[in-house]
Amino acid sequence: MSKDNHTTTHSRDARVLELYEELLEIEQRLIPTGLHILGQPSGRSEKADLLKMIAAFDRPESMATALPDLVAQGLGLSSEIEDREKIDSLVKQVIHDLLASGVDSAVAFLIDSNVDAGLSRPMLELLSSVSKSLDSNYELDSLVRALRGEFIEAGPGADIVQNPGILPTGRNTHAINPYAVPSAVAFTRGEEVANSLLDRYRSENGRYPQAMALVLWGLDNIKTQGEGVAQAFWLLGVRPVRDAMNRTTSVSVIPIEELGHPRIDVVMTVSGIFRDLFSPTVQLLDKAVRLVASLDEPAEQNFVRKHALEQIERDSCDLDQAAVRVFSNAPGNYGTNVNFMVMDSQWDQEETLGDLFVTRKCFAYGRDSKGRSLEGLEARVAMDKALSRVEATYQNIDTFEIGLTDVDHYFEYLGGVSKAVEKRAKSRPAIYLSDSLSRDSKIRSLEETVRLESRAKTLNPKWYEGMLKHGFRGVAEIENHVSNTFGWSATADAVDDWIYSEVANTFLFDESMLERLRDLNPHSAHSLVRRLLEANGRGYWDAEESVLDKLRDISRSLEDQLEGVA
Ligand code: BEZ
Ligand code: MG
Repeated sequence: MSKDNHTTTHSRDARVLELYEELLEIEQRLIPTGLHILGQPSGRSEKADLLKMIAAFDRPESMATALPDLVAQGLGLSSEIEDREKIDSLVKQVIHDLLASGVDSAVAFLIDSNVDAGLSRPMLELLSSVSKSLDSNYELDSLVRALRGEFIEAGPGADIVQNPGILPTGRNTHAINPYAVPSAVAFTRGEEVANSLLDRYRSENGRYPQAMALVLWGLDNIKTQGEGVAQAFWLLGVRPVRDAMNRTTSVSVIPIEELGHPRIDVVMTVSGIFRDLFSPTVQLLDKAVRLVASLDEPAEQNFVRKHALEQIERDSCDLDQAAVRVFSNAPGNYGTNVNFMVMDSQWDQEETLGDLFVTRKCFAYGRDSKGRSLEGLEARVAMDKALSRVEATYQNIDTFEIGLTDVDHYFEYLGGVSKAVEKRAKSRPAIYLSDSLSRDSKIRSLEETVRLESRAKTLNPKWYEGMLKHGFRGVAEIENHVSNTFGWSATADAVDDWIYSEVANTFLFDESMLERLRDLNPHSAHSLVRRLLEANGRGYWDAEESVLDKLRDISRSLEDQLEGVA
């Protein structure tokens, strides 16, 4: 074989392996199959999937080690792809055995794989107890009690994989003590994610981003005890400082040598919910920026200071004005409205969407150097300036239950801020998301995440058949997913043509599927066709004229049906 041939074979094999890894990723992804029905426990296979996900993480609070790690150690397996499949299949079997025959049987099963009973038992006991809690819940009972005005027991609000202690459901979920944020675990995970984020940017751009825009949400930071906050701290290079009562009331500087990367200029757009729930944390984030801006460090090691000094020089302003980085809605206001504008097709130029984001979110929070509260002061110019330097935008995905295409909030926030940056920085930022479902704090680009979500959910028969079981509402969910996907075209041009083509093939050009949608919910079916035509009309989907003709026919026939003509 010639050298060239060898290289080609080699790169072909590498590409096949890459594709195979992507397929595994899609196959193994946990997705919600259908909507939740109040009071109804999950089915057996759904439960097994969930337990497998819970088993994939160490649970220090139960002294339990992740099952895949135990199996890998027991059998001396590596992280090579064949080994990973073997591990995955064994973990599946153990969980099946646990559900069918109980903890002792599953322990014995693992002894055959050379896993010590003392090591496997804590995790299996935990899974067994989670399994029991999943079989019963207080949802209906509590609803009735709530309607009667009676007491409902309190319970933590979190993601089930992150904290199985939320079970049983049907309790009065409580949030979090903002002074406990970020927790020690969240701070450790925040470092991993911040480093992965910077590594990813560097691998694509050959240098660090000087400024990033982060979206922070309340519910996320409740569920993760402040991982988003921790990521912002690590990018800036500060750590939380706790007072004598163990409350996080201040921050201290992490020296550059220890930090291992320059201090990134972080522009934070926080949701109205975050602002309300985490008021002390908002103050801390602002304090962290001002502290870092005041450090006497070289420009190439401290981009916050670099940018603040440039702004002071150029605009003859002071450090107080040049270091505003925490923005939210005006007091009492919530949301960006970018989602409504997109959903109602009420826009002409894309930049309107970014401008709307800034109009809604340009209110500054924190304190100036004299300790005076900004209290949501309108600061449009400051926000425009801060965004004009941004090179990358980022948001956490904190749960498997809600992803990029499940709700319109991700594109209104991350899409909105990215579009605002694009105009102000005169260049589209790199857009990233983290994946709390992967054990190695994986960072994906927006485009990659949209592809994964489309394959794992919208275009996945397991997902849409689960939705269609709910009839009218299920069709509305499918249409929502397509519209939310469209939101990523409008705000970030992040949707490949094939995704729209496959939506058309799957839901509209398959006659029996179209019949089902028509029967169950012709309104949503009609909206879905209109959205595809809009995607083409606005230049986001390059479709053949014959495809568009077919869509127009379907649209007309649905209109006739809705108007009672057909
Ligand atoms: C939040 O948790 O902050 C949030 C949730 C949904 C939409 C927007 C923000
Ligand atoms: Mg395109």
